[in-house]
Amino acid sequence: MGRLDGKAALITGGESGIGLATARLFAAEGARVHLVGLDKAALAEAVESIGADRCAASAGDVTNAGQVATAVEEALQRFGRLDVVFSNAGISGDVAAIEDYPEQVFRRVLDVHVVGAFLVLKYAFPHLGPGASVIINSSVVGLTADPGISAYAAAKHAQVGLMRVAAREAAARGIRVNSIHPGPTDTPFMHRMETAATGRSPERAAKVFNEAIPLGRHATPAEIARTVLHLACDESSFTTGATVAVDGGMSV
Ligand SMILES: NC(=O)c1ccc[n+]([C@@H]2O[C@H](COP(=O)([O-])OP(=O)(O)OC[C@H]3O[C@@H](n4cnc5c(N)ncnc54)[C@H](O)[C@@H]3O)[C@@H](O)[C@H]2O)c1
Repeated sequence: MGRLDGKAALITGGESGIGLATARLFAAEGARVHLVGLDKAALAEAVESIGADRCAASAGDVTNAGQVATAVEEALQRFGRLDVVFSNAGISGDVAAIEDYPEQVFRRVLDVHVVGAFLVLKYAFPHLGPGASVIINSSVVGLTADPGISAYAAAKHAQVGLMRVAAREAAARGIRVNSIHPGPTDTPFMHRMETAATGRSPERAAKVFNEAIPLGRHATPAEIARTVLHLACDESSFTTGATVAVDGGMSV
């Protein structure tokens, strides 16, 4: 018995990193998964490796309402239902002090994380029923802050506000909405951010970050995926509106 037997999930940013690890785990637990992302080749590779019987994909940008609506429709056509939504797509933006931060980059980071998550919820909500679960991938910096990442931290904090409103709105229909807050996780995304923040090689930059994490290391994408699975399935049936830290103690 899988913990997501018979369920269908939509995962944005599903072709890489945490999204892909979650797609693999969901499929192993019995779900059918529909991936949405920008990288067509990586999406096709993910579908092939998970198996076309369990996995499908739509290329789409989460900031584009029409593309999000189409991706939701394609998931419904393919699987006939939607039970879990993992709003995960993200970009890091630049690392720079506020006075030097490029306005266009700031706007794009908010667009991808905040407008993107809003659009995914907006178009998926009408198709969700009692027992459905929505998870937004925020970050440890949705709960804390560091210098140089004004856009990313503002976007990740804003996702908490969106999650809380969505949890309040959806509760009467038996739908749960939570956010997760991963600490540094071993993905290409984090390596880019760490080298930009420290100006060091990926290995040395990772060491600098490890020193700030009480557990002394990065998470693996699979570890984050297990927390998403917990929130997606009925094990967490009384958890909604929660900010779930998965950060090795970094936010304590
Ligand atoms: N890696 C970390 O340390 C870490 C920590 C905390 C939170 N996060 C969050 O986890 C999420 C996934 O990051 P990851 O580390 O797996 O990085 P990643 O770069 O491996 O994956 C990001 C995914 O988002 C997709 N994406 C980006 N912009 C998009 C857009 N406009 N429309 C559709 N898809 C888009 C990319 O195609 C990619 O598949 C992000 O929201 C990130 O902020 C990551």
